[in-house]
Amino acid sequence: MTKWLGAVLLSVLLLATAACANTSTQENNQSKQESKTNETKEKTTAVETGNKSLSNIKVLATGGTIAGASDSDTDTTGYKSGSLGIDKVIASVPQLKNIANVTGEQVANVGSENVDNALLLKLAKRVNQLLNDDQVDGIVVTHGTDTLEETAYFLHLVVKSDKPVVVVGSMRPASAISADGPLNLYHAVKIASTKEAKGKGVMVTLNDRIASARFITKTNTTTTDSFKSLEQGYIGEIAGEVVSFYNEPTRKHTTESEFDVSKIKELPQVDILYGYQNDQKYVYDAAVKAGAKGIVVAAAGNGTMSTEAIKGATDAVKKDVVIVRSSRAGNGIVTHEKMDDEHHFVSSDSLNPQKARILLMLALTKTKNPDKVQTYYEQY
Ligand code: DGL
Repeated sequence: MTKWLGAVLLSVLLLATAACANTSTQENNQSKQESKTNETKEKTTAVETGNKSLSNIKVLATGGTIAGASDSDTDTTGYKSGSLGIDKVIASVPQLKNIANVTGEQVANVGSENVDNALLLKLAKRVNQLLNDDQVDGIVVTHGTDTLEETAYFLHLVVKSDKPVVVVGSMRPASAISADGPLNLYHAVKIASTKEAKGKGVMVTLNDRIASARFITKTNTTTTDSFKSLEQGYIGEIAGEVVSFYNEPTRKHTTESEFDVSKIKELPQVDILYGYQNDQKYVYDAAVKAGAKGIVVAAAGNGTMSTEAIKGATDAVKKDVVIVRSSRAGNGIVTHEKMDDEHHFVSSDSLNPQKARILLMLALTKTKNPDKVQTYYEQY
């Protein structure tokens, strides 16, 4: 009897173990199956041009705070910009899948203070190459905010397509409480997939605004409303899911621009010299000696220059260096004055010094003649 009971118990035990093993094998198989399905899903997502009813948007990443991270979520200044790869940045906004087929490409991963002429050329050439592809409907460029306006204006002048190009950054790193990057990126993709965005030149979006690269500038070191288009205004706005356009830039850009980077291997060196009380001629001499082909003066007020600065600048002109007067005032037009005709200087119109430098580099790929360079400042 005891033997019999023992045998029964053993069989029950064996059956239970087998059943358990079976269940766990089934679970394993199921989870393998699921993970296979997920893998397939991921693979499909990575290669698909995807949902045919959605636009195909390429995100070109260059770094900056939008890809920045810190160990502390309250640290909005001491983080390392350009820490996250573009795939992580895109994955942090899963909602992008609902509005476009988005794929990323890492062009660089730097703080934008380290964006140099070589990177500008590389990025512009890649944008043109991608926009030439029928499969690409628009481009988003992620960028550090410190020099974002320079890259955006450069692209505005050299992109050879009317498809939307949107440059986006963020003021807070991805790791911060209330990081602004994810929504800014969502907005950028949304704008790039909007039909009305075609032909508007290169746009910049942060903080729910859509601005033309021609007019936008960074006005505050840390706040999320740093990017402003002060005198000329924004070209549009995003409220909820709605992208609205109200204005567009009237100056030449993209398809109308005569600047062509396709054959340029190197851009000419152009430096910016600041105007201030007691400034000296030797800074101009030093820039010329070091090889500057053009100098933008971040002059006071409506581009006024001290006697010493004028001496330095006129000596530079004698050596075929083009001098452009811009203003450190932050706003307004530097008007063309008698002093320009007298000394063969150029006035920058409403371009701030950093954007006047971008236009001067491109102008110098065409001419060294100050009169001709002046016409570019009137048209672009
Ligand atoms: N290092 C700065 C840059 O990449 C960080 C500033 C920012 O992206 O907001 O421009």
